[in-house]
Amino acid sequence: CQGGPAVKESEWVNKKLKKEVPKVVDSFDIEDVGDKKVFCRCWKSKKFPYCDGSHTGHNTDTGDNVGPLIIKKKDN
Ligand code: FES
Repeated sequence: CQGGPAVKESEWVNKKLKKEVPKVVDSFDIEDVGDKKVFCRCWKSKKFPYCDGSHTGHNTDTGDNVGPLIIKKKDN
């Protein structure tokens, strides 16, 4: 939030991705999602905004419980 109180860098959720922009936003057209896409919510992925499994190591190291957002077509 712009204008809000500054917090220590160590408390940032986003440690290093696109720090030159005021807000990291990714947008996808629903037509391009295809059958399934897996999006990162831990901000640790080297393929951000896609999940690369890095959340598993983060959870193991920290005791956290974060995981991806999966967008997929219904199984028919
Ligand atoms: Fe971030 Fe999987 S790597 S949620």
